[in-house]
Amino acid sequence: MTGYDFSDEILGGSLMRVLGIETSCDETGVAIYDAKRGLLSDMLYSQVAMHAEYGGVVPELASRDHVRKLLPLIREAMQQADTTREQIDGIAYTAGPGLVGALLVGAAVGRSLAWGWDVPAIGVHHLEGHLLAPMLEANPPPFPFIALLVSGGHTMLITVEAVGRYKIIGESLDDAVGEAFDKTAKLLDLGYPGGPALEQIAKNGDSERFRFPRPMTDRPGLDFSFSGLKTFAMNTLHANEMDEQTRADIALAFQTAAVETLVIKCQRAIRETGIKQLVVAGGVSANSALRQRLDRMALKERAQVAYPRLKFCTDNGAMIAYAGCLRLQAGQMEPAMFEARARWPIDTLVGL
Ligand code: KG4
Ligand code: ZN
Repeated sequence: MTGYDFSDEILGGSLMRVLGIETSCDETGVAIYDAKRGLLSDMLYSQVAMHAEYGGVVPELASRDHVRKLLPLIREAMQQADTTREQIDGIAYTAGPGLVGALLVGAAVGRSLAWGWDVPAIGVHHLEGHLLAPMLEANPPPFPFIALLVSGGHTMLITVEAVGRYKIIGESLDDAVGEAFDKTAKLLDLGYPGGPALEQIAKNGDSERFRFPRPMTDRPGLDFSFSGLKTFAMNTLHANEMDEQTRADIALAFQTAAVETLVIKCQRAIRETGIKQLVVAGGVSANSALRQRLDRMALKERAQVAYPRLKFCTDNGAMIAYAGCLRLQAGQMEPAMFEARARWPIDTLVGL
């Protein structure tokens, strides 16, 4: 058994095997999670190569590719898990936030399969999926915890009292941190998505050459702003010769500033709330400089930090199957009508 065994403790022991579907953006993810045995399969098809040609996600192409890939991937996931449709007790699909056309593919397929197989279905909040992803690991963090959610679309600090009890205590006023990574990477000709590539070239950077600001750290509060860092990178680039070394130096200066800003705010959140448990999730949590700096800060604060394994930092079906399983076990389900929402504030979710 991996992850936190909610089945016996809070949810009255209703065991379930759930098929999870993620299609909110540019990855088709399918997984099967069993409340007693843990994750039985986890398949991912990434559209990154297709969108790279355009320098970013093209929503219409994303939807069409989910249509092509989703059913074959579900078939493969069922085979990998050695599971027949009679053994599936419920279906979870990402219902938002995300690209609405892409979401509709997963929602329509998930809801239709649930109808055909006569099992309940649940629309999962994508960010709830991300912030519960560390629960799939061997030593899941206890409640309450602070979650730092850092993805391509969101930068948020959230206090998590229990599943579904979320309070946003800080968020970006402009660009998400992943978006700032991607935009800076684009300036440096690193292609799409730029975060991992920027991290890679930053390894050759000289940390003494440029110093970028740490936005909004000089005033109280837990909100962020990252659009200025990208502008700072652009101005630095224009003021210098664009050679290999300069690109690496800018990448490092940007990454250090972004990471330090996140770490300062996490430290502040720990001190202000007194909660010494931090969970970091979303695509940017794959960044190793961020992990190192957070670990160091946590040691100083006598706090614990939990991360999902690397492949569950970015979008995946496992986090949706898991979050959906918890909600289905608690008796929540969708009517035969379904909804996909491009926008969906996480603090409007109901608790279990
Ligand atoms: O969570 P995710 O897969 O998708 C969203 O829900 O947005 O996050 C994708 C974001 C992209 O902006 C990507 O550049 C960033 O996560 N990312 C990284 C790294 N790996 C992914 N940013 C910095 N360093 C990385 N290693
Ligand atoms: Zn995501």
